Amino acid sequence: MENIIYSDFIKPCESENYIIEHFFVPVEYIDDDNHIMSVGSYIKLLYKHVPNKIIMSTTEYEIDTNNDFAHEAYGDVLIGGLGLGVVLLLLRENIDVKHVTVIEKEREIIDLVWRQLQLDSRFNIIHGDCFYYTPNKKFDCMYFDIWEEICASNCIEMELLNQKYTQFLKSTTGFISHWVEAECYELADSHGGCPYCQSKRRHKNNKRELGARQKIAEV
Ligand SMILES: C[S@@+](CC[C@H](N)C(=O)[O-])C[C@H]1O[C@@H](n2cnc3c(N)ncnc32)[C@H](O)[C@@H]1O
Repeated sequence: MENIIYSDFIKPCESENYIIEHFFVPVEYIDDDNHIMSVGSYIKLLYKHVPNKIIMSTTEYEIDTNNDFAHEAYGDVLIGGLGLGVVLLLLRENIDVKHVTVIEKEREIIDLVWRQLQLDSRFNIIHGDCFYYTPNKKFDCMYFDIWEEICASNCIEMELLNQKYTQFLKSTTGFISHWVEAECYELADSHGGCPYCQSKRRHKNNKRELGARQKIAEV
């Protein structure tokens, strides 16, 4: 897939609750999760009313983790969560992808991002919540990226989404995947499967102090 220059698509802008900013990393560094931040320009989408509340960014880690699905996808694709549209720009390069439906909960994020992506007619967006949305067709593959942190408790929502959407897969070879699901399940396993208990304390212990997305908020 070609090297996408995200800043060619997404310009700085803001709405009542969200802001999209460009930022520059002057010196390469490796964060506490061993993710490289190379020198260069990046974009971040933030929630305005909570300090450093990053929703999405265009760091290497984000692009790599969204790229896995973008490579594997084919046919009719369902995406949960628009964010900055990183996965959509990657899917646009995949000629095996015939049609993409995106469900996004936040109207303001759709208004800020969707038009800027300049996607072709294979792509359409629905304003809705993927936990409540009922598709009117079946899909070859689906990808949900609705989380702000890597957290064991994400597995609960992944399981719910799997249960809800499996019936909307076209065939048994179709698949559903979620952003960094292996890491979330690993965290869950290492804490004795706590996502399925209701204890907030145990969930908090499972959470990394700062999720991968929050770490770059201060840059
Ligand atoms: C991390 S961003 C997605 C990043 C995206 N993969 C990309 O490539 O830029 C998460 C997005 O999911 C949306 N979201 C959160 N919960 C949702 C839900 N239940 N249904 C639909 N969208 C949701 C958020 O508003 C946000 O736009």
